[in-house]
Amino acid sequence: MEKNFKRTLITAALPYANGPVHIGHLAGVYIPSDIYARYLRLRGEEVLFVCGSDEHGVPIAIKAKKEGVTPQDIVDRYDGIIRKSFADFGITFDIYGRTTSATHRELASSIFRTIYDKGGFIEEESEQYYDPEAKQFLADRYITGTCPRCQNERAYGDQCESCGSTLNPTDLIHPKSAISGATPELRKTKHWYLPLDKHEPFLKQWILEDHKEWKSNVYGQCKSWLDGGLQPRAVSRDLDWGIPVPVEGAEGKVLYVWFDAPIGYISSTKEWAEREGKDWRPYWQDSDTQLVHFIGKDNIVFHCIIFPAMLKAEGSFILPANVPANEFLNLEGNKLSTSKNWAVWLHEYLQDFPNQQDVLRYVLTANAPETKDNDFTWKDFQARNNNELVAIFGNFINRVAVLTQKYYEGVVPQADTYNNVDTETLRQITELTEKIEQSLERYRFREAQQEL
Ligand code: 2FM
Ligand code: ZN
Repeated sequence: MEKNFKRTLITAALPYANGPVHIGHLAGVYIPSDIYARYLRLRGEEVLFVCGSDEHGVPIAIKAKKEGVTPQDIVDRYDGIIRKSFADFGITFDIYGRTTSATHRELASSIFRTIYDKGGFIEEESEQYYDPEAKQFLADRYITGTCPRCQNERAYGDQCESCGSTLNPTDLIHPKSAISGATPELRKTKHWYLPLDKHEPFLKQWILEDHKEWKSNVYGQCKSWLDGGLQPRAVSRDLDWGIPVPVEGAEGKVLYVWFDAPIGYISSTKEWAEREGKDWRPYWQDSDTQLVHFIGKDNIVFHCIIFPAMLKAEGSFILPANVPANEFLNLEGNKLSTSKNWAVWLHEYLQDFPNQQDVLRYVLTANAPETKDNDFTWKDFQARNNNELVAIFGNFINRVAVLTQKYYEGVVPQADTYNNVDTETLRQITELTEKIEQSLERYRFREAQQEL
């Protein structure tokens, strides 16, 4: 649906503060969102570009335990590194928040509470794994065991990284607690669930009928979730790192990280508004705001189905106009991985190529995984730098400068409207500008750069 908007709110996925950011993050999310923000600003439009660190969740708690420090220590460390990388690469966020901030905690709590008070959750007891030695319930990631599909002995309670299957902890053969190594036992525990099944008719209409213009990878993934039928989804966890569930009888329970993380976009907007003396509400509550989420493909279900269902259940927020998710960037043929340390980290790139941020931005845009997974190779990086940036672009700029100096005393002369070459060049520039604008507006940043 094409619509005329008064303002645009651009969000970029909040990176987990359990590791630095790498070229895959940059190519998939932060460069495209930054190009889009810069483009709209150049057009003089009202734009707000928000992001922040995603600081809750089990992997952060596990990392802290392993290192013998607190989760807060972990997120303080990586929030600093990530923040610096974004600044170094010229990503022009208007605000970069943190999900451990007081504003965020209060807002996430209050959104949970509003939905709760409206009867928007189901409360249910279920049996979950409990570690009798560590005396605590185990989040899915805290349980390891043998994958029933591929026999990998190091599968997690939610997923096998070897064969890619999505798992339940009880699917694992020989489950073990990652905390104490003990064999966990099933015990009863209460949780709150968002009944996605109840939101299904609305989501089907809103995405499958009203947003046929979304990128085909995004639309297709949503369609397959919706066609498969949605199930209630737990929004709380038994964990000691996170935002406490603001309900009586919920001691020891926190909000599921994917419940609080997207609310980070709203709390960042609030913090920006407080800092600038502005009102945050129009950005999230006026239907004339265009909300656009930039994410990677693993985040599609959260941004297109779960978060919209939360916002709808809360009742006072707008929904995204578009979610131009990208596919993945691989590195020399293998999947980028923070846990396996297979990545080109942004801070390390700058040690090897000081001041060469734009070269990387250029190469990652030229090779952006917009419609399919792409591969980053150092050979391609070298070739694009030497052939495209230096030989073609650099040489062009150099000639223009030299010839302007030589024939026009360093001043670009006025176009001669009686000269066919001049008028034709101007016409071509206008035509090209329109073409580039159309590509940018359809989130085709590769195409836009190639035209340029
Ligand atoms: O996949 C990730 O890296 C998540 N931290 C993204 C969160 S996006 C938003 F919802 F906060
Ligand atoms: Zn497996």
